[in-house]
Amino acid sequence: MTWRVKKWTFEDRIIAPSLLAADFGRVAEETSRAIKAGADWMHLDVMDGNFVDNISFGPAIIQAIHETNDIFLDVHLMIARPDHYLPRFISAGADMITVHVEPEAQHEVGSTLSAIRAAGCQAGLALNPATPFEAVLPFLGDIDMLLVMTVVPGFGGQSFIPEMMAKVEAGVKHRKEQSLNYHIQVDGGIAADSAATAGQAGANVLVAGSSTFGATDMAAAISSIRQA
Ligand code: DX5
Ligand code: ZN
Repeated sequence: MTWRVKKWTFEDRIIAPSLLAADFGRVAEETSRAIKAGADWMHLDVMDGNFVDNISFGPAIIQAIHETNDIFLDVHLMIARPDHYLPRFISAGADMITVHVEPEAQHEVGSTLSAIRAAGCQAGLALNPATPFEAVLPFLGDIDMLLVMTVVPGFGGQSFIPEMMAKVEAGVKHRKEQSLNYHIQVDGGIAADSAATAGQAGANVLVAGSSTFGATDMAAAISSIRQA
């Protein structure tokens, strides 16, 4: 089966292990390990030391993963000027590119989303815990995924913030009322217990770093998140 051509809907529960928690000395093997353990997508956290207080990896690493593995690549850009770097992530093999709505990300949100889609990628829009749902409202008709951050972005291994479920629920409500069609992703502190909370609120894409790559049995960890 070629993962890339699979059409995912917001009724599918999608588990996306975050490479941030993997062994960076072996990123291709770590991705293969996640695929064998049942990962649906690979979540790739790009951090620039500017929009967030951490530096991770860029397009060269994503291209290496693209060339060595066959899995949907979900690229989460936590960087300033994502519009400027977009072409490099597109040619690296991204399937979904998510950008942040906060003004600190320094881009024209609407035109960045159109540029992502014009390149044949899916477009995601993220909001930080401190950002109100209203900030994404003008763009919900132009996205393939809404990312509700359930931690302050920058680091793996933080605790899930349950108060963010109000934004997930608002995303579900708006999608229904407006007959829209976007996934709702949660990212940060996801393990079986928080996955159940997020799933009940209506999130269908669950990003999990420490609880998957850090588990002794990754397949069991992914399956417990899927069934939560
Ligand atoms: C946080 C990143 C997350 C992170 C999640 O800035 O966007 O994707 O890898 O890590 P865990 O699952 O360990 O909270
Ligand atoms: Zn992320």
